Amino acid sequence: MRDWAFILALTFPVAAQAQEGGAAAWDRIYAVASHPRCTNCHVGEEGRPAWDDLGYGPERLHGMNVVAGESRIGAESIPCRACHMSAAGDNAVPHAAPQVDDAWRLPPVELAWRGRSSVEICTLLRDPEANDGFDIAALVEHVTTSAFVSYGFEPGAGRTGAPGSVTSLARDLKIWAEAGTPCADD
Ligand code: HEC
Ligand code: HEC
Repeated sequence: MRDWAFILALTFPVAAQAQEGGAAAWDRIYAVASHPRCTNCHVGEEGRPAWDDLGYGPERLHGMNVVAGESRIGAESIPCRACHMSAAGDNAVPHAAPQVDDAWRLPPVELAWRGRSSVEICTLLRDPEANDGFDIAALVEHVTTSAFVSYGFEPGAGRTGAPGSVTSLARDLKIWAEAGTPCADD
């Protein structure tokens, strides 16, 4: 009996704390996932990258009518690589096309976050079937290795970076996962 009381007293507050910590971690993850440095690429089927938060006013789409098409790399019209070089660079020149050590492209449509709410992105991210096959381990692996994600935190040329860092994002994903991937409408 005494042991049970002890275990209950210990487990419930810890579980409640983990849940709270998980919700707070999710809020920080959402602050990143909804940042223009990420959502300008994480767009839907229409395949129009955005130029939000680059000094052209809100809701601004990519200039020059750039459309990524089904290929997501502009193969059907002008390829992204015509302007965005596939090589690491310091992106020091304001308003030049950013470059990273990967082929600049849009994510698959399943990963569209632009214009979506915290609950919508949360529900999407925790479900590998809705998420292009990414589970939490794959998400952590992706954010720590992706040249796009590092660019989002340190874009250069006076662009605002997403809040936090690659390390803090990976840590928050783990906290959120350990708390059972809570979303606000659970
Ligand atoms: C240049 C476009 C681009 C930018 C900018 C970008 N991404 Fe992505 N992202 C991609 C592509 C492409 C994929 C698909 C996986 C791949 O091909 O590497 C992807 C996939 C992902 C995934 C894994 C899939 C998922 O949703 O489960 C995560 C997480 C992710 N990106 C996070 C971010 C975050 C966070 C930022 C901003 C800090 C960001 N991305 C900025 C292009 C981009
Ligand atoms: C004709 C040249 C050109 C082509 C082609 C082009 N871009 Fe761009 N892109 C630019 C320039 C220049 C900027 C920088 C705008 C600025 O910072 O004022 C840019 C910026 C971006 C941004 C914003 C980055 C940020 O940090 O918010 C995204 C996203 C983007 N391009 C995606 C794409 C994708 C995807 C393709 C291919 C489907 C593509 N671009 C094709 C010239 C181009």
